[in-house]
Amino acid sequence: MASIAIIGTGYVGLTTGACFSHLGHDVICADVDAEKIARLQAGEVPIVEKGLDRLVDEGIRSGKLRFVVGAANASKECEFHYLCVPTPQGADGAADLSYLEAAAAEIASVLPNKSVVVNKSTVPVGSTRVVARVLGRSDVAVVSNPEFLREGTAVSDFLQPDRVVIGSRDQEAAIRVAALYSRIAAPIMVTDPVSAETIKYASNAFLASKLSFVNAIATLCEKVGADVNDVVLGMGYDTRIGREFLRPGPGWGGSCFPKDTKALARIAEDAGYDFHFLDEVLRVNQDQFDRTAQKLIDSVDPALSGSHVAVLGLTFKAGTDDLRDSPSIEVLKRVVAAGIPVTAYDPAVLPRENRLAEMYPELKIELASDPYAAADGAASLAILTEWDEFAWLDFDKLAEVMRGRNIVDARNLLDPTIPRRRGFTYRGVGR
Ligand code: NAD
Ligand code: UGA
Repeated sequence: MASIAIIGTGYVGLTTGACFSHLGHDVICADVDAEKIARLQAGEVPIVEKGLDRLVDEGIRSGKLRFVVGAANASKECEFHYLCVPTPQGADGAADLSYLEAAAAEIASVLPNKSVVVNKSTVPVGSTRVVARVLGRSDVAVVSNPEFLREGTAVSDFLQPDRVVIGSRDQEAAIRVAALYSRIAAPIMVTDPVSAETIKYASNAFLASKLSFVNAIATLCEKVGADVNDVVLGMGYDTRIGREFLRPGPGWGGSCFPKDTKALARIAEDAGYDFHFLDEVLRVNQDQFDRTAQKLIDSVDPALSGSHVAVLGLTFKAGTDDLRDSPSIEVLKRVVAAGIPVTAYDPAVLPRENRLAEMYPELKIELASDPYAAADGAASLAILTEWDEFAWLDFDKLAEVMRGRNIVDARNLLDPTIPRRRGFTYRGVGR
């Protein structure tokens, strides 16, 4: 079993560290955030991620998972060094590599001889060379091993991946990294670093394109009177299309699709190719935010003007507490700009937390502690994130507390007959 340092203990780093320790490796997770590390040392997982707390607890108890402040404190003891730091979108659309370079600079002098540094952050083509240059260590191999996990299902995605991709010019290093995954039953693909880096961006941009396509089809369905749920079901029977990732929604978001789609367009531009297809994918997504926002604005009966919209769901999808680049927030910015007051409820964003106000200080909305409190006095109610609990709303109770009777279901979560039977009007997406 190997010793692994994880540099950056966020969604990807913590999942990677906890899963590698579960597979039997000795893992030390490092972060610059001392408060986060203190919480983790006490066994407290700072993010909502199914199954992660159990693995962290297991790792701490077995002694195979430790947490330290500072990358060098982890790296000095380990053979493998996973860089899991942020690569946010820079001002010019390209990925900002400053965190990656800073992390590499921190560990350069403490890396034991013959270590392997692994880029797990999503990084532009050529970044393994950037890391190698910053390290300045001819005895240390730098390998690309992009991550394909989704938030909300991160643990199962890591332990049962569709594939593991390793990009390396050094075959021995590639084999050593592949061996870390020996207890995982998945195809392991070894390629060169540039191809591995391109696979990651191409996969995210392809999935984002699929969603923009399905959202455009949903709009068409609204125009021609088709039901998008049946349309995607009928499409999905074709195995070349597949059933997954065909759910229309308020627009797609999250910490990766928007930045990675823009970064791929920028990578292409720098390489002399105008990938204008991706500009359209992004534009269709902005249109979807606009269209969803308009549905919320239209749901307020002018006779009830001044009354608020009750919004259910703020996170970028269900099963996570992540608010980064959430479609819900994009939609609400537009609704609030139109002068409509909003009261929102999300099971992962509690009113006593200050997270929403810290991340989006310009977004002036009220937070409620349950769906019925959000709906109290509302002109309409909108579902923007597909949390399971919103599928089981009590419409008799909603009818008692709400002033208006309009429902906007931007995730097609509800069976429309249920609210309609209680006298509500229902507007979904593409049906
Ligand atoms: P995150 O913001 O949740 O976590 C990053 C962590 O790195 C933070 O805790 C931060 O404090 C820490 N950090 C920054 N600089 C550091 C340093 N020098 N030393 C130690 N720690 C440092 O980010 P994330 O969502 O985990 O994403 C990380 C990378 O993985 C990004 O490139 C992202 O594109 C990619 N990725 C993310 C996902 C996802 O679902 N979130 C999936 C696949 C790939
Ligand atoms: C996505 C990819 O799915 C992961 O493979 C990748 O590793 C990750 O980005 C990353 O690089 O960070 P994630 O952002 O966690 O994962 O979430 P997804 O499940 O892909 O959802 C992204 C957005 O698309 C969300 O807003 C979600 O609501 C939306 N979506 C997804 C739909 O609207 N319809 C669908 O059918 C699926």
